[in-house]
Amino acid sequence: MSNDLDDNSKVGSDERNTDGLPRARLIKRFGWVLVVVGVSTTALFTNCDGGFKYDPNSGKLESLGDGQNQSGDLKITTFNPAGMVVSEGQSLEGGVDYRLVATGTGLSSATIAWQITENSGACVLRNGVSDDTRYVMCDQSGRVSVQVSATFADGARSVASVPRTTAAVSDPNDACGASTASRVVFRIPANTGTSPWNSSAAPVLVFVGQTLRICNNDARGHQLHTNGNPCPHQPNTMATGAFYDCAINNTNGVNATTGIVNGTYDHNIGTNAAFYIRILNGQALYADATQSSTGRDSCATCHNPYSNSSVRNASFAEIKAAIASVPEMAVMRNGLTDDEIRAIEFALNR
Ligand code: HEC
Repeated sequence: MSNDLDDNSKVGSDERNTDGLPRARLIKRFGWVLVVVGVSTTALFTNCDGGFKYDPNSGKLESLGDGQNQSGDLKITTFNPAGMVVSEGQSLEGGVDYRLVATGTGLSSATIAWQITENSGACVLRNGVSDDTRYVMCDQSGRVSVQVSATFADGARSVASVPRTTAAVSDPNDACGASTASRVVFRIPANTGTSPWNSSAAPVLVFVGQTLRICNNDARGHQLHTNGNPCPHQPNTMATGAFYDCAINNTNGVNATTGIVNGTYDHNIGTNAAFYIRILNGQALYADATQSSTGRDSCATCHNPYSNSSVRNASFAEIKAAIASVPEMAVMRNGLTDDEIRAIEFALNR
C-alpha cells in the first residue's frame, strides 16, 4: 500500500503520448452510461512539452516547461461517502462511491478532462455535478489511477492523478448484489458507526422508477428513517450484510433547490446520522420547458409527449450528441445537467 505512488512517475511520459486525446469514450456498466467527452485541444499545447514533475506528498503532477503554466497547484482530493477526506496511501473500499474533486488556480475557466489510466481494481468513473468532480467505485482488489488534466486559457496544461490500491467488495456475492439499470446499490460504509451515511455534497442519486437498495456494510446495525418519502420507513434495524429496498416512485418531499429528500436519517441514531438521497424524475424533465433557453420548449414539444416519444430508447450519448449538434436543439444547450440527461435516458428506456 505504501508503494502506491511508485508507478506514477511514468504518468508524465504517458501523458505526453496521449496529449489532447481525451476523445469521446463510452463506458457502459451497471446500466449507467457515462461518457467522458474531452475537447481536442492538441494545437493549444503542442508547445507545452517540458515534461512533468510528480510530488508524492501532494499527489500532484506538475507540468514543467514553457513558462506559461499556471501555478501548478492542480490536485485531486478524495472524499468518502460521509464527506471525509481519504488521504494518500489509503485504499479504496470495494463497492463504495468515492468523490474526487479537482482544485487549482484558474480551474474554473480551464477545460477539464478526466480518465482512468490504470484500472486493475475494475473501477468505474462516473460524472459529477460539475466538471471538477467525478465519482469512482471499484469492486476488485487491485489498483486504480484517476487522472485529471486541465487546459488553461493560455494553452498551458496541468495534470494530476490519484493512484490508489483498491479492495474487493467485502463479499461480491453477498445478498445485496450490484447496481443494475433499475437498481442503485448504496452501501453504508464500514466504520460509519453513528456518523452520517453520506454527505449532502455527494448524495446518492436515484431516478423515479428505480429502486434504491441500501446495504449495511457496517459492523453495527442501521435503520432508515423516512417521513414516508421517498419510501416507507424501514420497519426494523438491519444487521451487517442485510439490505433494504426503497422504491422511488415520485419526488414527494424533495427540496426544490437541492433535489434532496427531506427527513431521511438513521432512525436509531437521529438526524445527525443523515442520509442524503437526491431524486430526479426523467419523465417530468422530458416535458419541462423551463429547461430550455426559450422557456417554451421541452423534449415533448418536438418529440411527442412522453407516452409516444419519437426518441424512445435514446441513450445518454445520443441525447448529448443531439443537444450539441442538432440546430433545432440549440434551445436545450446549457440547460440540462448530465445527471438530468441521464434521468431522461432512464425514463426513455424503461
Ligand atoms: C426545438 C425542437 C427540439 C427540442 C426541444 C428537442 N429536440 Fe431532439 N431533435 C430535434 C430535431 C429537429 C432532431 C433531428 C431530427 C430527428 O432526428 O428527429 C432531433 C434529434 C434528436 C435525437 C436524435 C434522434 C436520432 O434518431 O438520431 C435525440 C436522441 C433527441 N433529439 C432527443 C431529444 C431530447 C431528449 C430532448 C429534450 C432534452 C430534445 N431532443 C429536445 C428537435 C428537438
